[in-house]
Amino acid sequence: MCGIVAYLGPKQAYPILIKGLQRLEYRGYDSAGIALFNGGLEIHKSKGKVSELEAAVKDKNLSGTIGIAHTRWATHGEPNQTNAHPHFSQKKSLAIIHNGIIENYLTLKEELINRGYHFESDTDTEVLINLIEDIQVNENVLLDEAVRIALNQVVGAYAIVIISDKHPNTLIVARKGSPLVIGIGKDEYYVASDATPIIEYTKNVIYLEDEEVAVLSRNEEIKLRSIKNKVKTPYVQELEWNLSELEKGGYDHFMIKEIYEQPRSIKDSMRGRLNARKGIVSLGGIVDYEQKMARAKRIIIIACGTSWHAGLVGEYLFEDLARIPVEVEYASEFRYRNPIIGESDVVLAISQSGETADTLAAIEMAKEKGATILGICNVVGSSIPRASHAGSYTHAGPEIGVASTKAFTAQVTILTLMALRMAQIKGTIPKSRFMQLLHELENLPKKVEEALKDDGIIKEIAEKYKDVSNFLYLGRGYNFPVALEGALKLKEISYIHAEGYPAAEMKHGPIALIDENMPVVFIATRKGIYEKVVSNIQEVKARNGKIIAIVTKNDKIVRNIADYVIEIPETEEMFVPILATIPLQKLAYYIAVLRGCNVDQPRNLAKSVTVE
Ligand code: G6P
Repeated sequence: MCGIVAYLGPKQAYPILIKGLQRLEYRGYDSAGIALFNGGLEIHKSKGKVSELEAAVKDKNLSGTIGIAHTRWATHGEPNQTNAHPHFSQKKSLAIIHNGIIENYLTLKEELINRGYHFESDTDTEVLINLIEDIQVNENVLLDEAVRIALNQVVGAYAIVIISDKHPNTLIVARKGSPLVIGIGKDEYYVASDATPIIEYTKNVIYLEDEEVAVLSRNEEIKLRSIKNKVKTPYVQELEWNLSELEKGGYDHFMIKEIYEQPRSIKDSMRGRLNARKGIVSLGGIVDYEQKMARAKRIIIIACGTSWHAGLVGEYLFEDLARIPVEVEYASEFRYRNPIIGESDVVLAISQSGETADTLAAIEMAKEKGATILGICNVVGSSIPRASHAGSYTHAGPEIGVASTKAFTAQVTILTLMALRMAQIKGTIPKSRFMQLLHELENLPKKVEEALKDDGIIKEIAEKYKDVSNFLYLGRGYNFPVALEGALKLKEISYIHAEGYPAAEMKHGPIALIDENMPVVFIATRKGIYEKVVSNIQEVKARNGKIIAIVTKNDKIVRNIADYVIEIPETEEMFVPILATIPLQKLAYYIAVLRGCNVDQPRNLAKSVTVE
């Protein structure tokens, strides 16, 4: 989704802004722009990538020590140069960058048109900046006051930064619903939609709260107020991530780097939380809510995309280990469904970014109805952890590739730890079994390393099937969510249509699609209902489908039927999703690379979906 970067300080702003936009490229966007003050306000924008913007401005005077910059993911109006941000106000005295959606922009626009304003773009953003200018001029108030008055009239979500030619030493920043971070350096301020463009300059940041407006002025302390004009005290936090974690580290793409990071990221998710020898599972962040969770009538898991698939694995884990009923809901459906929720429900909100608009809105709704909200998020300090009563960070490190990989396995790891802790509290599994599971879990990063080793066969499969139009992914039990996740990975980055299905349900529809051109990926690991899955494989084979199977090491039965097998180490059934997902991530990656796709920034997708 859209990206924001702004700078005010002693350095030249342009290089900082461009680098910041590049760091935000992973969020997904379709145009970019920049505004600098250099004796007057100048805006440069272009359709396409940040590199195209750089090429377009290379002969311009780009000096200035204050500026704002933006990558736009189109919502109102097509992705073109005119609709790209920043937008000038009519008098060209103000310029704005904006993430989010102003829902009542048409009404506001009509009023402004009646007052003589005309509009160049189709965006809601241009309406907002003209509203601010109109208030500033007609009510004769200072700019920050005009911003507050305007924001009180706005319905919707916004993260904005405004620059003015009359106050070239000040940036006005505000947020509601869309994230915004302010970095505090020495005599300088950075602003961004997430911390990635800021990390290399400072670790001290302030995450703006909803309906806060900050005034950042050269050599002055930050001034923070609510849009209702209440003075607020800024809360400065320290960022956890390092710059090296944001670089590709010798890999061709972030996605493959992140796939290979999984032995480490899974270990980091468990660090300090699991001691198998002593039989301890402890998630510090939710200690105060453990008893409530153990007593919960029901756990409702809300999430979107890959995080929703992790939630599905969570359903099997909590029911299996802790005997707590679980419902897994798409946040976007849940929030509009008038669901039955009460104080005895615990809601688990899963999100890599911690910013997904639908998940956030679903949390607010469940909170209002009295449920306890626990977050499982990766980005520290993001909106979902702040909106939750408590939670556990996944500690997977920054995930830059749009297609989620290490965040998924980290989410499943946290869900496993939570379910085991619940089982321990409730005494739903025997102590000896509990200890056995802890030891196996502690050992899992090593098995992940092993699962990552063998590339040859996956590359061969990718080469063979890179040009097909459809793929089917089938699995049962714990491996059903794995099938969904495998299919999602492939379609996200290679644009091949792929469907994930519970293997037995294949008979009720997808079987009609099977012919000699259809590759079918089975997750057919031993344990669980292995024999049943073998029967499903036979059914596909009988119809000449091509079979690619993820199997447990030394499997003989499936090897005799399948066209290709990919082996993973043997583990407990409930830990298989972590191991089995890894070759599927790689398969999607190699196919996408062979098809020449932009793996890290697939078309139309966004990393952090901050609009509903
Ligand atoms: C987008 C991303 C997915 C992600 C989903 C949910 O669609 O491209 O990779 O799974 O949003 O995001 P979240 O940050 O809430 O996990």
